[in-house]
Amino acid sequence: MDKSNKRVVLVTGATGGLGTAMCKKLHSDGYRVVGNYHTKEKADVWMQNLNEEGLHIELFFGDVSNFESAGKMIAEIEEKIGNIDVLVNNAGITRDGRLINMKPEDWHAVVNTNLNSVFNCTRQVLQGMIDRKFGRIIQISSVNGQRGQFGQTNYSAAKAGMHGFTKSLAMEVAKYGITVNTISPGYIGTDMVMAVPEKVLAQIVAQVPMGRLGGTNEVAHLVSFLASEESSFITGANYSINGGQHVS
Ligand code: CAA
Repeated sequence: MDKSNKRVVLVTGATGGLGTAMCKKLHSDGYRVVGNYHTKEKADVWMQNLNEEGLHIELFFGDVSNFESAGKMIAEIEEKIGNIDVLVNNAGITRDGRLINMKPEDWHAVVNTNLNSVFNCTRQVLQGMIDRKFGRIIQISSVNGQRGQFGQTNYSAAKAGMHGFTKSLAMEVAKYGITVNTISPGYIGTDMVMAVPEKVLAQIVAQVPMGRLGGTNEVAHLVSFLASEESSFITGANYSINGGQHVS
């Protein structure tokens, strides 16, 4: 908790489309929100935009794909703000392409940023949560980790791995009042999704029974639900939020 007794939430990859919506929603729901950023220029623009909206949310630098960098950031947050009660592992990138053409660096960048980051951050907040007997750990995975996607062997592997992590850790820490869950969004109207070639995206949206992209606020609402005290009996779960695109 921070000094005013608010639960502290760390959202990784806060400056992206989903991260921004989560930060705003969690802030309005009464959390002390801190965001993680990787690119200074993006962080400056983000901060300015939020300030113009009258919102003041601190951002901390950290390369979550790197254990030492993530640890330094977490230590800094815990010293300046307070203990982290809720961790949202949201940072993620794409390097789409068929496996036959995929360069090793595109494989490693995606696995390091999307999956190894989950270990790097969770490992370094977990002891505090165990000591305080409270914690919420939320992975932002993807429908493409549940069903696969042409051109995303790296991304789908990393996103599917996140849920294996969730299920195992949920068992390990349930007795300490810590819940661990995954959210698997479908195609949401973020810059990442809008970068998909128009024709390909139109074909994808045509497969969504709701016939539209999801809203970032819709995912943020689910994050806030899982972060809440009232969600204390939900753990090891994977929440699909995809407009019916993949039903399992
Ligand atoms: N299924 C089957 N075949 C397909 C296909 C598909 N979905 N898409 C393309 N192909 C075929 C093409 O018809 C073509 O076949 P021929 O050579 O016989 O004509 C062949 O594959 C090559 O197609 P491309 O020229 O498109 O291949 P490419 O290697 O240049 O590009 C790609 C591939 C970059 C992956 C491109 O298809 C693409 O961008 N796809 C979208 C991937 C996607 O959905 N990414 C999601 C990003 S957002 C995100 O990840 C957020 C989230 O969690 C949802």
